[in-house]
Amino acid sequence: MKWYVVPNIKQSSEPFIKKVKVGGKNICIVNYQDSLYCVGAICPHAGAELSGGWCKDGKIICPFHRYGYDLQTGKGNPGQNDFIETYPIEVRDGQLYVGIESFWNKVFGK
Ligand code: FES
Repeated sequence: MKWYVVPNIKQSSEPFIKKVKVGGKNICIVNYQDSLYCVGAICPHAGAELSGGWCKDGKIICPFHRYGYDLQTGKGNPGQNDFIETYPIEVRDGQLYVGIESFWNKVFGK
């Protein structure tokens, strides 16, 4: 897994959902109830931008058809049968870092 600096986003006491491109991937950084999460930027249902959504009960809610995805696991609500990617996120010396596994490492488990 490779760790990438997330540019232009600082930890904040205000909740937010921000889309950024890191390590060649579009992701959403989410600050929800004083915890940071990192999830994929695109809703798997019909391709909406999750950065336009909101958070409720530990889930990110898609703005198009209100599908919900767990911020920690990425698992979709019961009955959706889908999921979004989640990525580890850390704060080091006030700077955000996101860990992204390469495609080949995912496939071959290296
Ligand atoms: S596009 Fe996200 S719920 Fe339909």
